[in-house]
Amino acid sequence: MRQKHDRYEIDDDPRRVDAKRVHAWLATTYWSPGVSMEVVQRGLRGTSLVVGAYDAGQQVGIMRVISDKATFAWIADVFVDEAHRRRGIAGAMLRFTLGHPEFQGLRRWVLATKDAHKVYESVGFKPLPNPERWMILKQEDAADNARAPG
Ligand SMILES: CC(C)(COP(=O)(O)OP(=O)(O)OC[C@H]1O[C@@H](n2cnc3c(N)ncnc32)[C@H](O)[C@@H]1OP(=O)(O)O)[C@@H](O)C(=O)NCCC(=O)NCCS
Repeated sequence: MRQKHDRYEIDDDPRRVDAKRVHAWLATTYWSPGVSMEVVQRGLRGTSLVVGAYDAGQQVGIMRVISDKATFAWIADVFVDEAHRRRGIAGAMLRFTLGHPEFQGLRRWVLATKDAHKVYESVGFKPLPNPERWMILKQEDAADNARAPG
């Protein structure tokens, strides 16, 4: 599937993903600092949907979805190249994802964010109504997580 957002293309073709560029971005983030190329590529292979934003063929944004395509979806690794921010690209990738025909009728979409709540609020996300029902198992010894906060 492919859509236009101003001059940008939003596309879910995994063959278009520039793994080198995506790795360079993700290695700078607060949630996966220093992540290895191997982990990025393994994650991309295991992803249910990878949405890219492209400007004249060059990748300028990414978002991926981990889902059973029936009840549940987790949005991860949302990143827009600094030179292209505040032009609605993240919003366009989110609307593309939430409207995707393979992901309709799910019970829950979830994600975690340190400071980009507004981006997700603009498409309907709200804080967890009952965080006490949620649990997490952190693998502190995972090499790639060693420096990741949160
Ligand atoms: C967060 C990020 C993905 C936003 O991408 P973007 O393409 O610039 O976002 P958009 O232009 O689609 O903005 C969508 C909405 O969020 C707001 N917004 C965008 N970036 C924001 C930020 N950093 N803080 C607060 N609000 C922000 C916009 O004002 C807009 O709201 P509006 O429609 O009411 O005007 C981008 O800044 C980024 O890649 N940051 C570094 C990585 C990161 O933090 N990713 C998110 C992890 S959860």
